[in-house]
Amino acid sequence: MFPRKPVWGLASLMALVGLVFAACGTPATPRAQGTEPSTTTPPPPAKTTTAQRAKVEVFSWWVGGGEAAGLDAMMKIFKAQNPEIEFINAAVAGGAGTNARAILASRLQAGDPPDSWQGHAGQELIGTYVKAHQLEPLNFLYEQEKWLDVMPKTLIPLISQDGNIYSVPVNIHRSNVLWYNPRILAENNLPVPTTLDEFIADLEKLNSTGIIPLAMGEQWTAMHLFETILLASLGPEKYSGLWTGKTDWDGPETRHALENFEKVLSYTNNDATTLAWQDAAQLVVNGDAAFNIMGDWTEAYYKELGKTPRVDYGWAPVPGTTGVFQFLSDSFVLPIGAPNREGAIAWLKLAGSKAGQDAFNPVKGSIPARSDADRSLYDEYLQSAMADWARDTLVGSLYHGVVANDSWKTEINTDLGIFLTDKNVDRLQAALMSACKSSGPCH
Ligand code: GAL
Repeated sequence: MFPRKPVWGLASLMALVGLVFAACGTPATPRAQGTEPSTTTPPPPAKTTTAQRAKVEVFSWWVGGGEAAGLDAMMKIFKAQNPEIEFINAAVAGGAGTNARAILASRLQAGDPPDSWQGHAGQELIGTYVKAHQLEPLNFLYEQEKWLDVMPKTLIPLISQDGNIYSVPVNIHRSNVLWYNPRILAENNLPVPTTLDEFIADLEKLNSTGIIPLAMGEQWTAMHLFETILLASLGPEKYSGLWTGKTDWDGPETRHALENFEKVLSYTNNDATTLAWQDAAQLVVNGDAAFNIMGDWTEAYYKELGKTPRVDYGWAPVPGTTGVFQFLSDSFVLPIGAPNREGAIAWLKLAGSKAGQDAFNPVKGSIPARSDADRSLYDEYLQSAMADWARDTLVGSLYHGVVANDSWKTEINTDLGIFLTDKNVDRLQAALMSACKSSGPCH
């Protein structure tokens, strides 16, 4: 095994606080983007009554398409462990939380939080919910459940601020995965591409065959593609530097990355905006498209469709990103004022437990956040992901909450939306620079 090389956004600060954390057993403190150190002590938790203990409302975006099965598996255990608590599954459909997060935001604004919700480790958590003082620290649970012994040291700084830990990671997902149709590649004499140049050459070759070279879906999947092409073009260190201010959004290397993105986009299907991520992924296993770039939740979906690994689909790191694991982590939180605080704590205990993670992840298509999983429960892809997570260079996902807080991500999303229509690289680069100035670390 090679030594770990974490190079994600906020790298230097996190590396430092990670060391402090490891040495002292107290959590590290990443700063929310665009914030000063918080001196506010979180308000005391809401008092619960016996009547309020009887239910728990858990909010996520895991609805079907391979996503719901994992949640179901955890729900079953929850019900067996807590027969007196009614489990309310408040999942809202829409890949990557596109709808769910908007609904959550309005509920939070109206002072109507669910008892626990799915949030991504990183700036989505720290720069959004923690910054708005919406969450209770969970240090007491980490101590009680001895989670610090089993949760990755690389993850704790991403869910902590000022010595407080704010969420319970249930998994690790990888965003930089290339899914391909092995038959189409074989028929066209194409080995699996490993560099961006090879990939673009393959896309060009496939373009004349009538097969969709690269399947893509609605706008968030374009931003997902964008983060992987930025990584492939810039490499891990410069990609991570975009989120800390070290890499120049205005510079020639970023420009080259944007040109690569434009090029790759030109080989995608025309009806992308009408397709969910599942529809785009399905084009590959149906033999209509050669490639799709999507997170590893895709595998759970393929399995749900009854497809066979290595026959109906193959996988590889996005060309140009071999040895780099672009990650995200789904985690669950305890809001200040949770209507059913005890039910929420029971849910969080399960989400952080070995039994919960080993029931959820093999079905969800993610690897467990905990280091003590039973590997025999995981399939070939997931075992390979576990090996890569342990040895690859780590960088954070943009769309899935690690490197940019919500306001920065929203600005980038708006800029990309315009780009999908005007394809104007000059305008996009200027807009991304100005987004970094208004919401990120650029001055
Ligand atoms: C991500 C989430 C994954 C999966 C995916 C597609 O944001 O972390 O667990 O749900 O969206 O919906």
